[in-house]
Amino acid sequence: MCGIIGYVGPKRATPILLEGLKRLEYRGYDSAGVAVGLPGSLTVVKKTGKIAALRSVTPKELPGNWGIGHTRWATHGGVNDVNAHPHLDSSGKIAVVHNGIIENYRTLRGMLEHDGVVFKSDTDSEVIPNLIARYFEGDLEAAVKAALNHLEGTYGIAVVHADRPGEIVGARNGSPLVIGIGEGEMLLASDVTAMIAHTKQVVYLNDGEVVFIDAEGYRTTDRDDQPVRKQVDEVTWELNHIEKGDYPCYMEKEIFEQPESIARALSGRIERDIATAKLGGLNLDRRHLREVNRVRIIAAGTSWHAGLVGASLLESVARIPAQAELASELRYRNPVVEKDSLWFAVSQSGETADTLYAMREIKRKGGTVLGICNVVGSTIARESDGGVYVHSGPEIAVASTKAFTSQLAAFYLFTLFEARMRDLSQEEGKRFVEALESVPAAVAKVLAGRDEIQRIGKKYSKARDFLFLGRGLMYPIALEGALKLKEISYIHAEGYASGEIKHGPIALVSEEVPSVFIVPNDGLREKNISNMREIKARGGPIIAVGVEGDEEVASIADDFIATPRMDPRFYPFTMVVPLQLLAYFCALDLGRDVDQPRNLAKSVTVE
Ligand code: AGP
Ligand code: GLU
Repeated sequence: MCGIIGYVGPKRATPILLEGLKRLEYRGYDSAGVAVGLPGSLTVVKKTGKIAALRSVTPKELPGNWGIGHTRWATHGGVNDVNAHPHLDSSGKIAVVHNGIIENYRTLRGMLEHDGVVFKSDTDSEVIPNLIARYFEGDLEAAVKAALNHLEGTYGIAVVHADRPGEIVGARNGSPLVIGIGEGEMLLASDVTAMIAHTKQVVYLNDGEVVFIDAEGYRTTDRDDQPVRKQVDEVTWELNHIEKGDYPCYMEKEIFEQPESIARALSGRIERDIATAKLGGLNLDRRHLREVNRVRIIAAGTSWHAGLVGASLLESVARIPAQAELASELRYRNPVVEKDSLWFAVSQSGETADTLYAMREIKRKGGTVLGICNVVGSTIARESDGGVYVHSGPEIAVASTKAFTSQLAAFYLFTLFEARMRDLSQEEGKRFVEALESVPAAVAKVLAGRDEIQRIGKKYSKARDFLFLGRGLMYPIALEGALKLKEISYIHAEGYASGEIKHGPIALVSEEVPSVFIVPNDGLREKNISNMREIKARGGPIIAVGVEGDEEVASIADDFIATPRMDPRFYPFTMVVPLQLLAYFCALDLGRDVDQPRNLAKSVTVE
C-alpha cells in the first residue's frame, strides 16, 4: 500500500533510492528499507521508523548501481525491522519489495515450508521471493511470471537478483507502478513523485502487466509473456510542487494554495457568454448528458464529503436527483445500476481500493462512470469512461485540503453544465458563474484571518471531544471539519446535521465539549441559531463560523470566525477553510506530526 522505488543506471543507487523514499514519505509508512546490488551479492538495510533512521544505518559509501527500496505500511505482521521490506528468499540472492496483500500467503507459506524454506518474517510478502527462487533458472523475468501465477490478492512488486546485475523486474495487480525513463538510466516507482527529480517521461503499468528494466530501457509484457505496447506520458508537475518551500509543513502550504488551486480547477472551463461550463474530458455526447435522470457518486473520506456537497447541489440547482455513497458500502450491496443513471467516482489519488473496486463493479453492470481525480494517469482516471481532472497539483499532506475544494469546483462546473441544459436560465447561469469566479478571492480573504483561527485553535486544543454542526450544504462541511480534526490532532470529533443533535448527541454537551457551528446566511440560518441556543443553554462552548457582520450569531458564540458574504450556494468553499485551519492549529499546538498523522496512509490501496 505504501511506496516502491527502483533504480538502475550509471550512478550509485543508494542515494537515489533514499531520496525517492523520502519523497514517498507523505503516503504514510512505519518502516523502510533498501536492497542494493553488487554483482553476486545484495546488501539489504531495513529499519523501523522514518527514512532518517534508515539513512543513519545505511553505509555512506555503499557501492552498487542498481537496487530497490520500500516504505511499508504494515498489514500482516507487526512493525519491526525484520518485517520491513525488502524481503529475501532463503538463499539471500533475490530481494522483493511489495505493496498490497497476498491473500493466499498462508497456503503458499505452508507449501514452501514443506519444501524446507525457513521464513524470517511474519509478512505475507516473504512468500514472493521464495516462490520466485523456486522457478529461477537464470531468467529473472520468467521466474517472476511463473511465481505470479500462484499469487492471489493485490500487489505492486519490484524484484532484483544478485546474479542478474542491472536488472529489475516489476509487476502490478491492484497496486500502482510507474516506469520512469531517464537518460541512460531507468526508474520504477509506485508514484511519480518519487522520480520526478530524475525524469518526467513515464509509463503507467496496468493490472496484469510485467516490466523488465535495465539501464538501456524497458520491456512490458502480460503475465503470459505477450508484449504490451505502452504509451509514454509526460509528467506536468514540477519539483517545486512537491517541496515545502517556506512553509513549515505541506498541510499549511496546501491550505494556503487554495485560491490558486481552485482557480486552476476552473480555468478554461467556463463559457462566459453562454453562462455554462466546458468539460472536455467527459467523453459523453450532449444527448447522453441531457438524458441523465439520476447522479450517483461514490467515494471515501474527504472525497465522499465533496460528493455529498455535489449531490446536494445537483439536486437543488440542476434538479437531478443525486446521492453520494461510501464506495466501501456500495460495493458489497449488489447495487442496482439503472440505465439512466450517471456515476461519479471521486478520488484525489485515483488509487483508493474501495472506490476503484466499486467503480469496476458498476462498470461491469454496464454503468457509465466518470472520474473526478487529481492524480493524472491514476487507475481510476484511466479506467473511468471520462471525467474531470481537478488540477490541484500534488497533494502531499495526508489530510486532504486543496483537493477537496478543487473537487467541489468540479461539481460546481458539472452542475452548471447540467443545469444550463435543463431549467437554469442564462441570467441565472450568469449569476452562478460570477459567484463561482469570486470563490478564489473569497477563500484568500478567509486565509487572511489565520491569526484569529490560530488563537481559537490554541484555546480549544486541550478539549477531548468536539461536535461539528451544520445543515444543508454545511452538513458535509461539518463532517469534513470533524474528520480533519480527528485525523491530524487525534481529538475525538463528530460531525452532525444540526437538526439531529436533539435526537441524541446533545447528551454529550457540557462545558468540556466545544461545538463548532457552521452558520451561513442561507435559508437555514434561523434554525441554526435555535440549535446554537440549545447548546448554549446547556453550557456548551460554541465556536461559530459565520458571515461577517452577523452580530446575532457572533453574540451567541464564545468565539466567532467571520467569512465573506457569498451567494449561499457557494459557502462550502469559504466555510471549510476555517475548519481546515482550526484542525491544523489545534494539531500544531498539540505538537502532532501534521503531515504524517499516525496510522494513516495518503492513498489507501487495500480494502
Ligand atoms: C482525507 O483527509 C483522508 N486522508 C481520507 O479520508 C481520504 O480522503 C480518503 O482516503 C479518500 O482518498 P482519495 O480521495 O485519494 O480516494
Ligand atoms: N502486506 C505487506 C506487509 O505487511 C505489504 C504492506 C505494504 O503495502 O506496505 O508487509
